[in-house]
Amino acid sequence: MTRPVGVFDSGIGGLSVLQALRAELPHQSFVYVADSGHAPYGEREPGHVIERSQALTRHLIQAYDVQALVVACNTATAAAIALLRQQHPELPVVGVEPALKPAAQASRTHRVGVLATRGTLESAKFQALLASQQGQADFVLQACDGLADAIEHQDSERIAALGRRYVQALGSCGQDEGKIDTVVLGCTHYPLVADTLQALLGPEVELLASGPPVARQTRRVLPQVAGSGHPTLRWLTTGPADQLQAAVQRWLQAQAHVGTLKI
Ligand code: DGL
Repeated sequence: MTRPVGVFDSGIGGLSVLQALRAELPHQSFVYVADSGHAPYGEREPGHVIERSQALTRHLIQAYDVQALVVACNTATAAAIALLRQQHPELPVVGVEPALKPAAQASRTHRVGVLATRGTLESAKFQALLASQQGQADFVLQACDGLADAIEHQDSERIAALGRRYVQALGSCGQDEGKIDTVVLGCTHYPLVADTLQALLGPEVELLASGPPVARQTRRVLPQVAGSGHPTLRWLTTGPADQLQAAVQRWLQAQAHVGTLKI
């Protein structure tokens, strides 16, 4: 039996990454932690996100002996991944970042929208990524305060209202010159409402999420890749267990026995 891979997010958003991980590594066991009791990360101080990321990582190592860690959260990756790697040099740590490079390559109008949390957009890591793509496309950045929280609580009215507000703020979208034809979903919660966002943006706009590339990268760095066997999925949350349970049922079509984590 190979050791599990740990995956964490501020809440249910990392399920969009876990979906891709399970498709890429069908025999791999995972332990998923939703830090819903301390979410949202995107509108909190980086210090809070760093502290939570360190505590969750320590727990995944000590209690589950994880063979690798996927930080399935753009905000936590931006704030904490360098420190996590420094503190756990033996542990492969894979992070998520907004797919600016693939978006610049995919865009024919060379105009790309980026929806992400304020914490991600304001981070030095994101600013460096943006600078590295200078001249490849025009990037229109939009911080989506409250959207991850609305998704976390599966509040469809608030998701629709905030989605409309932030899509409108991006400006004209479509295939014509000067319009945004590609939108980066720079928060792992957003792919969970991709249908709503696609309906607001229109059918001509391509949405790009980071789950599949993260899953491929995880496969590359895994010390042991399980080739057969029945994988186990374990679920933990620092918030309400029924919230994670409902989300797993809805997006992964799985029954989850969710444990409550008090750290
Ligand atoms: N899902 C997280 C991300 O990818 C953040 C959501 C939050 O604000 O907690 O950035």
